[in-house]
Amino acid sequence: MNKNLREQMNIVVVGHVDHGKSTVIGRLLADTGSLPKGKLDQVRVTCERNARPFEYAFLLDALKDEQAQGITIDTARCFFKTKKRDYIIIDAPGHVEFLKNMISGAARAEAALLVIDAHEGIQENSKRHGYLISMLGIHQLIVLVNKMDLVNYDWSVFDSVTTQYRNFLDNLGVSSVSFIPLSARNGENLAKKSDAMKWYTGKTVLEHIDAFNKQDDDYAKPFRMPVQDIYKFTAAGDDRRIIAGTIESGQISIGDHVTFMPSGKKSTIVSIEGFNSPVKQTIHNGYATGFILKDELYLQRGEVMCRSDERPPYSATRFRANIFWMGRKPMVQNQKYKLKIAAARVPVRLVSIITSIDAAELTSVHGKKQIERHDVAECIFETTKPFAFCNIDDIHSLGRFVIVDGYDIAGGGIITGIDQDQTSLSNKQLQKSEIDWDTGLITEQDRQKIYGHKSRFIVITGKKSVQVAKSLEYQLFTHKKVAYYLGPVFDERDATDETTIHKLGEFARIFIDAGIIFITSLKRVDESELNLLSKLTAPFNFFHVSIENYEDMNTKDTIILNGIVEHEKLSEMIIHELKRQGDISDFSI
Ligand code: GTP
Ligand code: MG
Repeated sequence: MNKNLREQMNIVVVGHVDHGKSTVIGRLLADTGSLPKGKLDQVRVTCERNARPFEYAFLLDALKDEQAQGITIDTARCFFKTKKRDYIIIDAPGHVEFLKNMISGAARAEAALLVIDAHEGIQENSKRHGYLISMLGIHQLIVLVNKMDLVNYDWSVFDSVTTQYRNFLDNLGVSSVSFIPLSARNGENLAKKSDAMKWYTGKTVLEHIDAFNKQDDDYAKPFRMPVQDIYKFTAAGDDRRIIAGTIESGQISIGDHVTFMPSGKKSTIVSIEGFNSPVKQTIHNGYATGFILKDELYLQRGEVMCRSDERPPYSATRFRANIFWMGRKPMVQNQKYKLKIAAARVPVRLVSIITSIDAAELTSVHGKKQIERHDVAECIFETTKPFAFCNIDDIHSLGRFVIVDGYDIAGGGIITGIDQDQTSLSNKQLQKSEIDWDTGLITEQDRQKIYGHKSRFIVITGKKSVQVAKSLEYQLFTHKKVAYYLGPVFDERDATDETTIHKLGEFARIFIDAGIIFITSLKRVDESELNLLSKLTAPFNFFHVSIENYEDMNTKDTIILNGIVEHEKLSEMIIHELKRQGDISDFSI
């Protein structure tokens, strides 16, 4: 938000072959005086020398040649400026390149100019490009009805192209698009109003693009910071935790209340930690920074820090998105992929394809079951746990994602909304696993009488959970209780994946049914994982013991034990609790 910086806007120019895209761009550069000194004359002279008529389109080639000789080569863009702001024109060499750049975030257009040749009329690509623009979520679009000089600047030709194309856009749900009659070659209605088309009373191209809204003012939007890392400082003897990340939007001050999404954990900002920068009271979008919170929260990387007094982002598992697939293997339904969005990484599955088109050929295909390489598709996705996200129109960096298949980035997409359908895949999977099993003659009560206790599923979480769980199993076993410990072996991240939770849940059900006290340990667990476990073991309640005094989970069966106590002591405390709840009798320690 540096006021000294001029505002910038990215614009893409699309249209059917030869309809005049390069001429429009060349004209915009020339008529706004944005060309390097002498460039225009130089190109004119070269044309004369080669006995070719001068073309504004040649300006672009000339600029590219020049840039290619320079040190910083950026042939994909060119620039022009008006009084209002600076413009960057994103060159769209081909659909595939264009989509790849747009969707991966290498380039981002905030507005589009679509060129249609008045003489040739609407062609296939005129429509396909319109479709791609709408799929990419670019809402600011002007249609330039070019080469009006070839149709004698006739209003009725302009009117007929406009009516047809407007109908087409209406069907795509794209509205409020302006149409400008143009002769790019003659400079009519680009920088100055045309004398040849007095019947047109609307804006020129330059007036129109200056009137585009800058949607990117992320400063004015709600505060969002994806948590990139959590640093622990023990050097000073204290236990400060710094929540670090880059602020994507909005602003925040010391004392503000914050909520982390999707976990919903809350705290207050105590200090803003700059990296080699002076202490700040307030900080805003664009900064990479760290925060110290009043409470010691157990947070996961990828959660989004928000201000509690502002509108929250979405926090859900199902969303609608438009994606562009680049993977060698097609994207298929129900297979697990990894979704990377801002700092979050979540397993994701393709639920259904609404429409898909082949981006190279731009032919649209309905009823497809998989997304092929270079397809653009509108789909529904589902993640295995909730994550925080926004619509692409809201906060761009939280509405754009990539999909990783194995180790490769195989696709990219933009989120167009939350999906309201609540019948999630994991619920369906749960239903699928409900096979009708047959059991023997022994009842639950019979088992309780013989074993001397009720069956129970005990989930111990926290850093010391493994030792405590093993100690608990040992103590129960030496007192002739039927206890069994089974815990996953952790990788260095101590994270639990969804498959492990599923397996555990299924085992637990069997063990509980067999009358056993089944104990497991998970180093890290979040509320959605606990919910999944609880669904998998329903109607039984499991008993969650969290051995970390700073964890703040509100599961009703949670008891929180202080981490200082030795693990034998902890397991004794658990046994006491089991006795208190009436699960175990005749047990003295
Ligand atoms: P590709 O990049 O090949 O897809 O073409 P393009 O859309 O960039 O078109 P370009 O600007 O190269 O123009 C194609 C031809 O149309 C050139 O010969 C231009 O001189 C001509 N042209 C562009 N605008 C106008 C116009 O307003 N009137 C007339 N008569 N010709 C034009
Ligand atoms: Mg061109």
